[in-house]
Amino acid sequence: METKVYAHPSENEIECIGELLREGKLVAIPTETVYGLGANGLDETALSAIYEAKGRPSDNPLILHVSGVEEVYPLVQQVTPTAQKLMERFWPGPLTITLEKSNLVPFRATGGLPRVALRCPDNDICRKIIKAAKVPIAAPSANRSGRPSPTTAAGVFDDMKGRITAVVDDGPCRVGIESTVVECGVDEVTILRPGEVTEEMLLTVVSKVNWDPAIVSGEGRPKAPGMKYKHYAPDADMRTFVGSASGVAHHIWREYLSTAQPSESAVGVLISHETFVKLEEIMAENQRTLFDENIVCIDFGSRDNPEGLAHILYEALHRFNVENVALILAEGTEIEGVGTAIMNRMVKASSRQVFYVDAKGNLINR
Ligand code: TXA
Ligand code: MG
Repeated sequence: METKVYAHPSENEIECIGELLREGKLVAIPTETVYGLGANGLDETALSAIYEAKGRPSDNPLILHVSGVEEVYPLVQQVTPTAQKLMERFWPGPLTITLEKSNLVPFRATGGLPRVALRCPDNDICRKIIKAAKVPIAAPSANRSGRPSPTTAAGVFDDMKGRITAVVDDGPCRVGIESTVVECGVDEVTILRPGEVTEEMLLTVVSKVNWDPAIVSGEGRPKAPGMKYKHYAPDADMRTFVGSASGVAHHIWREYLSTAQPSESAVGVLISHETFVKLEEIMAENQRTLFDENIVCIDFGSRDNPEGLAHILYEALHRFNVENVALILAEGTEIEGVGTAIMNRMVKASSRQVFYVDAKGNLINR
């Protein structure tokens, strides 16, 4: 199968893409979080094709994407007042809500579960495509299972070319990590997967926010089946450090020096701008420069703006894979606000090798 690319599609092309989806074809679509692998959410054969193209376990349910709140009503038993409020406040946007499904929704979409996950993406092209398709669009992240979610059309193409009918390119995704998933209760929600919509933001709408205990402890069976898989793992061993810019820079420099590496394989470094400046200072003190070193360095912007880290994280992991780095040394962020969602991904990508460092770069217990 040849995979067609639609870059910034015209209105006519959007109609064609909608029709392809309605007919049961697989088309990767842009959203504000990550690229999705879209298919007709009411068509069992198309849904099966998603699982096959991704190599995804069949018990892992899919999110149905809609272009507006009104499209939710036929898909669920009841839109509760709490769900209504959440949708009004956060849609279009990176919040996925699970509600009891109606008979219209195939169990193939929900992995056999009684609830269906619903989301209205904050991307104009995406919503126009859903409207043109005239059906809800099931869309998991458009990567093969176990790989980082793609945040560019090129990332989708690398992973899925020849396996799907088309890719729609609308540039890099704004957010860069997947949506917050919540189970909706009565005036309360349970976070099943953290994302850009934070606990604090949810508390502006509901009285209580619970966390699925399995995602807090990393033990037991998570309520979102997808959270049990070892996602987002880069090929190289990855270690994540949290501390001051100076502490992280010192530690990464020492770890780089102590890593015996064959000359051909580089070390991937993902750090904030402040840490990058410190690292250059430390190197200068040692009469070295970044140019002389075997380092692939990615700067995610200011430490004060962890959204920059979210935005670049998967792309950075993808690039480290392509560059075949031997080791990844990354700077993490505090577990607060959107940092909770970022660290949820970084802990997994690093196989739980997350360390705190003091101002001199020594490891500390926290
Ligand atoms: O941002 C996103 O949500 C992206 C874009 C494409 O919309 N989609 C995405 O889909 O991340 P996926 O399939 O990679 O992740 C969906 C997550 C999985 O962890 C899945 O187990 C969970 O949502 N999920 C889906 N339906 C569920 C349900 N009925 N109950 C509990 N968890 C559910
Ligand atoms: Mg995924």
